[in-house]
Amino acid sequence: MKQDSIVISSTGSYLPKKVLTNDDLAQFLDTSDEWITQRTGIKQRHIASSAEMVSDLAAEACVQALFKAEVSPSDVDLIICATSTPDLTFPSTAAIIQKKLEIKNCMAFDIGQAACNGFITALTVGNAMMRSNPSIKKALIIGAEVFSRLLDWEDRSTCILFGDGAGCVLLDRSETPNTGILDCQLYNDGSLDHILYADGGVGQTGDSGKVVMNGRSVFKEAVQKLAQAAEDMLKKNNIDAKDLNWFVPHQANARIIKATADHIGLPEERIISTVDQHANTSAASIPLALDWAQTNSPFKKGDLVLLDALGAGLSWGACLIKWA
Ligand code: ACO
Repeated sequence: MKQDSIVISSTGSYLPKKVLTNDDLAQFLDTSDEWITQRTGIKQRHIASSAEMVSDLAAEACVQALFKAEVSPSDVDLIICATSTPDLTFPSTAAIIQKKLEIKNCMAFDIGQAACNGFITALTVGNAMMRSNPSIKKALIIGAEVFSRLLDWEDRSTCILFGDGAGCVLLDRSETPNTGILDCQLYNDGSLDHILYADGGVGQTGDSGKVVMNGRSVFKEAVQKLAQAAEDMLKKNNIDAKDLNWFVPHQANARIIKATADHIGLPEERIISTVDQHANTSAASIPLALDWAQTNSPFKKGDLVLLDALGAGLSWGACLIKWA
């Protein structure tokens, strides 16, 4: 049976208005713009107000993507929201987004807990669901976080790294063969759960806890695993790194991004990097970067785009897309 291709037809994003610069951080932490810039490439991050829920950020990003694609919310059949900072323990943030978008009937659920690998996980699941269920015509795949609420603001080794925001892609069907999402692959190594986690949860403490991280170990694992996922994906699809048009990695740290790209053999001009402006927005970082790229230097039809991320689990993965 002939299969439709699953394509990204639109992107959207939302960043909270409040901007916290490195100099602002140095007002209350023993740190400096120089230290943060040198070690991470981060210059500023956006921080949600206490009135803003992650579903508010996500709904704004979705409204933008739907508007750009001239698609009515009522035409959306599936919403998947990747977030490790949901509004509530339940129902899902996707269900709350559905309500905010006034969509009467659609499938909606969250992908939580993969943190920075949440968006690639959600995209992998959304793509697979659309391929196996022809009644799903359009899907909103969202990465949204208010990570600032999971931070210990007295721990200078973690709180300087993260920010808040939301991004999304609208998935659609295309009868053109061999375009859109070409391949997705996820990996997990639970034995490395202790190098990046939040030290709370219903099971353990009854609250959400705060981010705990062994920065050096995460750095080392991130470069090695991001490079491995990217190289596996290219090899599996018989693509040479020189034929890749755009690399859109998870935006954790400029040094991780550069080391990974060097490993794969990708020049700087093919890397989409927003980490200086957004910091690490966890699950939101790749869809935010995709939307930034579509606004500032849009991909061309036929461009080969590689998404690559690593997050808690450790969980990591890659998606290869031919831009439609
Ligand atoms: N400002 C000033 N000094 C600091 C700060 C800060 N914000 N944070 C730590 N330091 C100090 C430390 O206390 C230490 O001081 P000491 O030598 O007197 O003990 C010194 O700087 C070096 O600390 P390290 O932790 O060894 O610094 P490192 O070079 O490893 O950089 C960093 C730390 C930036 C966290 C780095 O390890 C890193 O980027 N790791 C990756 C973490 C990451 O991106 N996590 C995101 C989640 S996972 C993901 O998205 C892939």
